[in-house]
Amino acid sequence: MAVLTANNISKKYVSKDNACMALNDICVNVEKGDFVSIVGKSGAGKSTLLFLLAGIKYPDTGDVLMNGRSITKMKDKELSKVHGTEMGIVFQDSKLVEELSVFDNIALPGYLYRKKDDVDKEALSLLSSLHMIDQKDKYPDQLSAGQKQRIAFARALINQPDIIFLDEPTGNLDVKTGRWIYSLLVKLNKSGKTIVMVTHDSNAAAVISNKVWILDSGHLKKEFSYKAGCNNSEEVKVRLKEINEMMY
Ligand SMILES: Nc1ncnc2c1ncn2[C@@H]1O[C@H](COP(=O)(O)OP(=O)(O)OP(=O)(O)O)[C@@H](O)[C@H]1O
Ligand SMILES: [Mg+2]
Repeated sequence: MAVLTANNISKKYVSKDNACMALNDICVNVEKGDFVSIVGKSGAGKSTLLFLLAGIKYPDTGDVLMNGRSITKMKDKELSKVHGTEMGIVFQDSKLVEELSVFDNIALPGYLYRKKDDVDKEALSLLSSLHMIDQKDKYPDQLSAGQKQRIAFARALINQPDIIFLDEPTGNLDVKTGRWIYSLLVKLNKSGKTIVMVTHDSNAAAVISNKVWILDSGHLKKEFSYKAGCNNSEEVKVRLKEINEMMY
């Protein structure tokens, strides 16, 4: 069974003097263990689709099912629990809580659902694997963008979610930190996590994903299905060519 199913979802943003159809009648499936990359031009609707699939925003029409349950029909409390325990979400701009230390930013979602001792151990282990144990008592405004993004990762992983959503996780990072984040995602995916990532990086999409969704003006223009984790440079070139041809 699909972990996530979007059935004909559409989303319109309406402001005082403007209305924008951000997504039109999208149908997609995410299977357990998928690594999905969502690509497309700026304004194509990528973040909107990610937020609808993650239940952060609601579609105007259609429905999103997570393991067969309708996210759109869930009560707030049930959806909060799904967000806290089954999903990990990494936003483009980290969205850390400025008033909390690095350690507390990571641990907070854990304290809501699990024993404090277990959470503290997990937070320390995550900090250590991210090579940030020395930064644990710092505050977000004392960190670089790359360090903040690593903490946002750790926070998303604290409750060992089955599915991880990421909106341009490497958008503001240098190439080295970006590569490091991609290799972490590949490891997580190999360990069985399902990943749905918005990215501008068609090269990363071609190399690490098994599904690439190309959005264009709110429509799903194309879905490519691949074998995950491609090491063959010729195969990557072929993938990249077909992705870029569809995108531009
Ligand atoms: N809160 C909002 N109010 C009004 N319009 C919005 C809002 N958020 C997004 N839009 C519009 O909806 C469309 C899709 O936006 P979305 O943020 O999903 O695009 P995107 O593909 O993620 O773009 P980018 O690559 O620049 O992040 C765009 O035309 C955008 O201007
Ligand atoms: Mg976006």
